Amino acid sequence: MMRRGSTTVIRSILTTTTSPRGFSTGADKAVVTWWMRSSGGAARNASTVALGADKEEQRKEETVVNGGGEERKGNDNKEITSYWGVPPSRLTKEDGTEWKWNCFRPWETYQADLSIDLKKHHKPTTWLDKFAYYAVKSLRLPTDIFFQRRYGCRAMMLETVAAVPGMVGGMLLHCKSLRRFEHSGGWIKALLEEAENERMHLMTFMEVAKPKWYERALVFTVQGVFFNAYFLAYLASPKLAHRITGYLEEEAVHSYTEFLKELDKGNIENVKAPAIAIDYWRLPADATLRDVVMVVRADEAHHRDVNHFASDIHYQGRELKDNPAPIGYH
Ligand SMILES: [Fe+2]
Ligand SMILES: [Fe+2]
Repeated sequence: MMRRGSTTVIRSILTTTTSPRGFSTGADKAVVTWWMRSSGGAARNASTVALGADKEEQRKEETVVNGGGEERKGNDNKEITSYWGVPPSRLTKEDGTEWKWNCFRPWETYQADLSIDLKKHHKPTTWLDKFAYYAVKSLRLPTDIFFQRRYGCRAMMLETVAAVPGMVGGMLLHCKSLRRFEHSGGWIKALLEEAENERMHLMTFMEVAKPKWYERALVFTVQGVFFNAYFLAYLASPKLAHRITGYLEEEAVHSYTEFLKELDKGNIENVKAPAIAIDYWRLPADATLRDVVMVVRADEAHHRDVNHFASDIHYQGRELKDNPAPIGYH
């Protein structure tokens, strides 16, 4: 087997990393920088093929065979290397510090578009839209009573719900694509991206507000009910399901606007932004919680638009697959 040259490796990395989040040219350069500085240098396909003979020898010396996998020793950081060619990637940021997030990579990060219209609203006219609208509105009252003005906690809890629709919709479209032997128009990816983005909101707010035991119990219950209810709703009427999500996102925009007001009044301390948020949204190093809420609110506005758009497509008697999905829209 031949060892791949570094140029080839970088080219193949660029090929695999340019599309998901819609990089600009500047971002592409950043990715190359990250990868050129990565100590492993081995992208997902390079695996053990890229290991030189000397490194391979060293690896053998340091490796303890452990069942189907292998455990490498020698550094403070123990790591598992894989016989199956799935090595852990090592990345560094532009400033040379280590990229510490395993859950997302530099090319999945982005700068939120804060210019998005936050006041857009879909006026419900049909009975189905009115049902969706008032169903969402009816959830507002118990939420307001339960959380009062604890917006950090409220945001964290609501994100556990907000990450469900994208995953359910994406999963069902995935199954439909398989059943019907047809393309999805990119909607599977777009909806799964939305779910992942919502989950990153949760990972961020987890750093700001720690859930109490009864709040964790509430998440269990709500997830059990909401996942199944949304699953059935999407099966019965994707048009309704996307409209419900569109209105949920409108509420999310409202909630984060209230959050910002409380921050501005000084009722909530404007603490330093969590490190995960600084890296995910490419925020400045001195970013604060307020900056985080601003970008999260912009994300919610984008989700609102995507879901109302999806519902509108169904309303026009067309299928999602025939209308290119807004992949990387945020
Ligand atoms: Fe969210
Ligand atoms: Fe959202």
